[in-house]
Amino acid sequence: MKPAPAHVDCRFVMALCRPGFETECSGELMARLDHAGINGRSVGSLDSGQVRVDLDNIHRFELLDRAIRLVSLTFSRQLAFGFGHADGLAGKDRVSPLLDAAKQAGTPFSAILVEAGDGAEQRPLAALGRRLEPALVRAFAKYSVLRPRRTELARLHIHLPAPGSAWLGLSAADNASPWSMGIPRLRMPSQAPSRSTLKLVEAFMTLLTPAELELTMRAGQRAVDLGAAPGGWSWHLANRGLRVTAIDNGPMAPQALATGMIEHVRADGFTWRPDGSVDWLVCDMVEQPARISRLVADWVASGRARRAIFNLKLPMKKRLEELERCRRLIDDRFRQASLGFDLRMRQLYHDREEVTAYLAPR
Ligand SMILES: C[S@@+](CC[C@H](N)C(=O)[O-])C[C@H]1O[C@@H](n2cnc3c(N)ncnc32)[C@H](O)[C@@H]1O
Repeated sequence: MKPAPAHVDCRFVMALCRPGFETECSGELMARLDHAGINGRSVGSLDSGQVRVDLDNIHRFELLDRAIRLVSLTFSRQLAFGFGHADGLAGKDRVSPLLDAAKQAGTPFSAILVEAGDGAEQRPLAALGRRLEPALVRAFAKYSVLRPRRTELARLHIHLPAPGSAWLGLSAADNASPWSMGIPRLRMPSQAPSRSTLKLVEAFMTLLTPAELELTMRAGQRAVDLGAAPGGWSWHLANRGLRVTAIDNGPMAPQALATGMIEHVRADGFTWRPDGSVDWLVCDMVEQPARISRLVADWVASGRARRAIFNLKLPMKKRLEELERCRRLIDDRFRQASLGFDLRMRQLYHDREEVTAYLAPR
């Protein structure tokens, strides 16, 4: 038997992204819908970090959940399929209208996430959401609309686009971020040489499942870091117990070298090659995305690295087209090697005009 949310009728898609990247975020959603033969139009506002695509027809949750997979999206941090609205939330009692609107789904939920865009104007809404959540959890549990132990049930997302209104949607646990607003709360380690450390920490948490990470990353493994200085990424890998060769003509921070796990080689990351193969390649060189993609694809398709995490800088306007070009270049190199591959790209919370990707043979 299918879990209950499969049959909920949905009218829109709701996503959260980095403010300023709404066009890319909705462009990807529209492409997935188009591919599934579903028509819709984007109604999100610029710089809000919040995107909504209204569907021309009502579709079942199950169909939308199959058509749009978060793992295939680069610019969405969070994803849910919308079934209702609540307005008139400006009064003292915001809980009752939200409870009434949530009941329209006709199914209980395993969790409630009250979320807002990450844009400057939306910050007070995110704060309102954090204040509202405990009261909602109490009320929803009282009326058995919330059943935290039934993890097979969908999660309820309440997005706050404005102080007086809310959009309500559903997600399955395997097709949404586990973190509210799709943002993992990470603390900067005091010894880390640069804030870039957090980008790699987030990449491992976001681009791989915990089970995949356990399987593929172990102390004692060997890694190469291309464009390593001042050493935030190398430092993180060293802290996970990996031996790192850090390639950069620039200087590495003393605290990175003090780990005793990092060998600094002053060389060009495009021409340097290791003896034998390594478990992980990471690359954060500031270069054209196509050039980085070609390089990383060659390392992984040739078996020089078993898997890679790499960053693509996207200062250009046509970002979706540029990423498509990168995908094609990677595809070409793996075809040459007669290999399949797994490529996941995401604009992380710690990414600015850039995205971070994971590549491995399939
Ligand atoms: C964004 S920084 C890397 C930050 C690093 N991930 C960290 O966590 O500290 C980019 C680095 O790439 C290096 N770089 C750029 N082109 C390079 C090349 N062709 N070979 C080696 N390093 C390169 C730069 O010297 C710079 O240190």
